[in-house]
Amino acid sequence: MAEAPERNLAMDIVRITEAAALASARWLGRGDKNAGDGAAVDAMRNSFSSLNIDGTVVIGEGEKDNAPMLANGERVGTGAGPKLDVAVDPVEGTNLLAYGRPNAISVIGVAPKGSMFNPGPSFYMRKLVVPHEARNVIDIDAPVKVNLANIAKALGKDVQDLVVFVLDKPRHKELIDAIRTAGARIQLQTDGDVAGALMATDPRSEVDVMMGTGGTPEGVISACAIKGMGGEILARLDPQSYVEKEAIQEASIDIRETLSTSTLVKSDDCFFAATGISGGDFLHGVHYRAHHAVTHSMVIRSKTGTLRYVESYHNMSKLSKISAVRY
Ligand code: FBP
Repeated sequence: MAEAPERNLAMDIVRITEAAALASARWLGRGDKNAGDGAAVDAMRNSFSSLNIDGTVVIGEGEKDNAPMLANGERVGTGAGPKLDVAVDPVEGTNLLAYGRPNAISVIGVAPKGSMFNPGPSFYMRKLVVPHEARNVIDIDAPVKVNLANIAKALGKDVQDLVVFVLDKPRHKELIDAIRTAGARIQLQTDGDVAGALMATDPRSEVDVMMGTGGTPEGVISACAIKGMGGEILARLDPQSYVEKEAIQEASIDIRETLSTSTLVKSDDCFFAATGISGGDFLHGVHYRAHHAVTHSMVIRSKTGTLRYVESYHNMSKLSKISAVRY
């Protein structure tokens, strides 16, 4: 029997990423990443308070660098409504925001309680993200050139047509050399591998693949979006220090396990929203006009695979009268 449409929580959570983007975009290029992050955290927490969910933050951001945070274990929502795991990154790319670089975004993923991977003390994870067409041809243990050849074939391209998103970090020197030797092109960005994962799976973007090591929480958040986009993420924990490795082993987490979209987020009924903060080529940044601020978001529901782009016009004089948050 056909199902009636259910509540699309992504349409609710996009209002929260919009609020976080509106609040934090005031800090664009002002060199203070914690102030921008703090503004987004406050706006997010305030907006969650009226949402009818019984949410627990399982992926909070901030532990890595003592940034302001919505802490793991924090309850969000009114407490009425579905019990959910909540993954938040109020500002994904705090340095991008602080230095006015593209692709700082505000993101939230939600999924039924108990369905998100718990990173424990793991900060870093190696990731390989591809669009839908290449989801079955990748192998995290295969050499870079083999993966790129298989991905190119699946996408109906030559390897030299591919664009690979890589974070511009010293740890990626060998990876970058291998991609160049294979003949593919590279988009190097200083930060923001959730944006990289979104671009790799978004059919509108010129990025075809994301490779390299970034945050573990960011990997789980990315998986919420990838579930709906129909692509694939393969990942493996990749501790960047002895202390991190020891902590993972003490927590009895198998460091060698290959994680996939379905192990990072078990449920097929998850929701994702992202709003641009700084301008980028896949989501526009917050644009303040005389009377309105304009935001640009993506909204994804995994059960149906619907991806919406939402452009919102926020009336600043009305908002300033009713909102507890200063935009
Ligand atoms: P923040 O928003 O916490 O600054 O994270 C930005 C980011 O670039 C992530 O996108 C990425 O996963 C992680 O940092 C990489 O960590 P590092 O900069 O320590 O290599």
